[in-house]
Order: sequence, then structure tokens, then C-alpha cells
Amino acid sequence: MAEASKRIFEASGGVWAQLRVEAMQAAAEEPLLASYLHAAILHHDRIEDALAYHLAQKLGHGDLPALQLREVISEAYRGDPQLGVQAARDMRVVRERDPACKTYLQPFLFFKGYGGLQAYRVAHWLWREERHVLAYHLQSRVSELFSVDIHPAAKIGAGVFIDHAHGIVIGETAVVEDDVSMLHSVTLGGTGKAGGDRHPKIRRGVLIGAGASVLGNIEVGEDARIAAGSVVLSDVAARCTVAGVPAKPVGGPCSQGARPAEAMDQKIED
Ligand SMILES: CC(C)(COP(=O)(O)OP(=O)(O)OC[C@H]1O[C@@H](n2cnc3c(N)ncnc32)[C@H](O)[C@@H]1OP(=O)(O)O)[C@@H](O)C(=O)NCCC(=O)NCCS
Repeated sequence: MAEASKRIFEASGGVWAQLRVEAMQAAAEEPLLASYLHAAILHHDRIEDALAYHLAQKLGHGDLPALQLREVISEAYRGDPQLGVQAARDMRVVRERDPACKTYLQPFLFFKGYGGLQAYRVAHWLWREERHVLAYHLQSRVSELFSVDIHPAAKIGAGVFIDHAHGIVIGETAVVEDDVSMLHSVTLGGTGKAGGDRHPKIRRGVLIGAGASVLGNIEVGEDARIAAGSVVLSDVAARCTVAGVPAKPVGGPCSQGARPAEAMDQKIED
């Protein structure tokens, strides 16, 4: 086995093996879905092949049918072996961080945040390959279908969890580092007053609450938390919590505790 394939196998093996077990159990429990589960998961040998099939089935339509889109997605997975590793890691963190997620089957088949993020990763690969029109096409389909509008040039790290995912907007020059969690209706946008590099930089481990808008080329420091409904217009210090419109620090001294995006820690200390 080539070195790259071996790394992917080891990195995604646990998640993929468990996903297959869950698909077999689900097919036995719900025979109505057996052929769907077989086509989407059990027919494939690797998570990348299953995702290529499944995403293409969802996102393909008249302008770019599923068969051709599947080829494009498979090409991306061959072109950058890290995409498969990230897909497995993203699935693992959904299970770890979402109390409503009991199986890997749920994000793989049903969660818009997971599907939208994996499709973004393919669009970002296309962007890096200078295939911008195809990248925009994919962005537009993902936005229509999953309500997740991520510019293909945005940079998003691994282990990212987008819960519910309704109404996510991430702009062209935004950066989201590893291990970030965000809930629905989050905007990482520009203020409308600047061109060029105009979007937020979200550092590792940040937790962004539902409906928060983070606007402008500002930095949200490592392990910071943004409360639901906040409008963040200036830098947020590492490990601090901000809330409100416009957002201000709350909750006393900044915490030294566990990474909030991993713990999904949504408490404000007295
Ligand atoms: C409102 C807006 C246009 C800024 O207008 P502005 O007049 O240049 O405002 P400034 O940045 O100089 O801020 C003026 C004051 O308004 C506050 N403010 C700015 N934007 C605000 C907002 N969206 N909500 C609440 N208060 C806001 C600032 O904190 C500042 O308060 P202060 O005077 O007490 O310090 C801009 O911040 C905005 O919200 N643009 C829309 C961006 C958007 O929707 N982006 C999404 C892209 S996908």
C-alpha cells in the first residue's frame, strides 16, 4: 500500500469501519432504507469513495449530473489525500461534540453541516487547482441544498463542527483554524467598508454561538467563545468570552479551562 493511502487508512479506518457496522445494522432494522445504505456506504471500500458517491447524489443536477460530479469529487480525493483524513476527523468530532449525535451514520447521511463542510473541502481543492468556475458551481449547489455558503477560497482547518448549519456564511478571506465549533446562522463576513483581506481569522478551538456575526478582518483568539446573537466587531483575546451587540467581554477573567469548542462549554461563570 502506498504511504499516503496507508496514512489515510489508519487515520480514517476506525471511523469508516464503525460507519459500515452502523449501516449494516440500520439496513437490517429498516429494510426500506437497505438499498440506499448499500449504495451510499456498504458498496464502497473507503470513506472517500462513499462520500464521492453520496455528495454527488445530493449535489448533482441537470447542469452537472451526479455521475460527472462524482468523478470530480473522486479526483479531488485522489489529488489531496488529506481530504479523506479530514473527512474522518470531522465526522469523529461531530459525534464527540453533538449530544444529539449517536452514530456516525447521522452526520454522514443527514447533517447539513458535515455534508456542506466536505463539499466545501472539494470546492477549495478545485479553487487551489485554479478551477474557479467549477468551485463556484459547487459553492452555489451547497448553498442551495444545505444552506451553507462558504466561499471556496476561505481556509478551514480540520476537526471543525458546524451544528445544524442553517444559514452559515463564510467569506472569501476568512480563516477558521482546527478544532473550531460553530452553531447555526453564523456569519464570518466583511463589514462592507473594506476590500481585500476583509474577513475574520478564527483561531484554534473557538466556539461560536448560534446567530453570531463576526465582521471584518479581526482575530478571535485561541479557545475564545462568542455568545449566541453577538455582533463581534473587534479582536477577541484568547480564552475570553464576548457577548452582545456590539460584543463586549463577559464572564470575568478569561478562562484557562478545557478547549471550549471541544467541550461545547456554553456556561458563563458567575
Ligand atoms: C453598521 C456598519 C455598516 C458599520 O457602520 P459605521 O457607521 O462605519 O460604524 P463604525 O464601525 O464606525 O461603528 C460605529 C459604532 O457602531 C457600532 N456598530 C457598528 N456596527 C454595528 C452593528 N452591526 N451592530 C451594532 N453596533 C454596531 C460600533 O461598535 C461603534 O460603536 P461605538 O461608537 O460605541 O464605538 C457595519 O458594521 C455593518 O454592520 N455592516 C454590515 C456588515 C454585514 O452585514 N456583513 C455581512 C457580510 S456577509
